[in-house]
Amino acid sequence: MSEKANILVVSSEPHTRELLFNALREEDYSFSLVPDSYGALTKIKKEKFEVVITNLPYVNNIEILKATKKITPKTKVIILTKFTTIETTLKLIKQGAYDYLKEPFVIDELKILIRRALREKEHYVEDKFINQKLKPKNHFGNLIGKSEVMEKVFSRIKDVAKTDITVLIQGETGTGKELVASAIHKLSRRKNKPFLQINCAALTESLLESELFGYEKGAFTGAVNTKLGIFCAADKGTLFLDEISETSPSVQAKILQVMEHKEFLPVGGTKLTKVDVRLITATNKNLKKSIEEGKFRKDLYYRLNVFPIFIPPLRERREDIPLFIYYFLREHNHFLNKHIKGISEDALECLLKYSWPGNVRELENILLQVVTSCKKAVINVDDLPEYLRLLKTSSKESASYVLSFKKAKQETIESFEKKYLKNILSKYKGNVSRAAKAAQITRPFFYEKIKKYGLAPKELRK
Ligand SMILES: Nc1ncnc2c1ncn2[C@@H]1O[C@H](COP(=O)(O)OP(=O)(O)OP(=O)(O)O)[C@@H](O)[C@H]1O
Ligand SMILES: [Mg+2]
Repeated sequence: MSEKANILVVSSEPHTRELLFNALREEDYSFSLVPDSYGALTKIKKEKFEVVITNLPYVNNIEILKATKKITPKTKVIILTKFTTIETTLKLIKQGAYDYLKEPFVIDELKILIRRALREKEHYVEDKFINQKLKPKNHFGNLIGKSEVMEKVFSRIKDVAKTDITVLIQGETGTGKELVASAIHKLSRRKNKPFLQINCAALTESLLESELFGYEKGAFTGAVNTKLGIFCAADKGTLFLDEISETSPSVQAKILQVMEHKEFLPVGGTKLTKVDVRLITATNKNLKKSIEEGKFRKDLYYRLNVFPIFIPPLRERREDIPLFIYYFLREHNHFLNKHIKGISEDALECLLKYSWPGNVRELENILLQVVTSCKKAVINVDDLPEYLRLLKTSSKESASYVLSFKKAKQETIESFEKKYLKNILSKYKGNVSRAAKAAQITRPFFYEKIKKYGLAPKELRK
């Protein structure tokens, strides 16, 4: 008979313990459940566990992680946590956590994680990346991301795709605007019709006009034949106009006309052409500012901005960085026939700290450079370009690297909100209506917040 794997579960929440009890029993593991760090530490000293799953407040999780790693370094520690920030994730990785799951989590995901942890005899730094394999919820078609903000982008794409509504995608360069446009088309009822795109900044005014709307024979010198424009070619399908802010007033007027009347005049033409095109536009500029500067038509802006999708810059969703690293390493390995297994903790730290002005495209390119020249199995700090290497701080400093003002403010607000809601909920013994009334906020808003912070009113009833 094969020996059963021994697992320790530490959780102060009875319902999590119950959930895990049922899951582990189904999987036929030998396991113990304890409610606090004292119980956990006593157990760890006495017994050998292959996996420890800890679901306590942050400091206690770290305490258990450290103790486990000290006593039995090969034990895989999985952290279940409601609240993750870059620093906490970084700290967990640095202290040797095998992986973490953000609550609320899907029990099957945890089961898979445990199975994988048990399969791996040794724990290398790069294992973390193997664990970052694309789970269904970590991507949406070709778009990758597990951060809350990207989940929102995915859900906006889903909401709008099936309609014919015009979409305006905004985001800095390299944030994936093109991928979002193509995802909308692929999910739409036009998916079997053409998806055409044109970069409005890449052509001169007159060339863009004739590319978009076509021209009649003899419309200008050189127009020896009639040419159909891209609007015609995209008929019944989707047309993606990238860098829409760069269009001239005359092109803007023509786009407005197509949107209002579904028809336009080719250059030099006299007969209106009818089209049925779904329009998606994108820009990395602030269109409102362009309107103020008189460079963009206000009426066109309102026509285009029916359903805005904003893709946040990578520095505001750093939790996606490890996922991208894993994904691009796999892609580049394949492309370059290399076998790089992962990245060291220090190198990861540099990549997590960098501000990524070129966003995902920049990360993808850096990894391509690094994979091309790296001769070892694991990417190290020395393999990174100097400006990234310099971000590696001494261990003394690393705990306190500087966050951007915006991020620091957001984290402070979130930490305050969570504490405030928890206090008021326990004061009113988990009664949301009374707590919301006392806080002078609406119930739906209150519910939204407690969901965000994973607060369980039931728990606070006792
Ligand atoms: N969420 C994502 N998942 C996977 N790949 C991504 C994601 N976001 C961006 N990329 C990759 O980054 C690169 C840049 O993406 P894309 O061309 O869509 O950016 P963009 O926002 O259109 O940039 P620009 O404003 O410069 O045109 C592409 O190679 C794309 O595959
Ligand atoms: Mg683009």
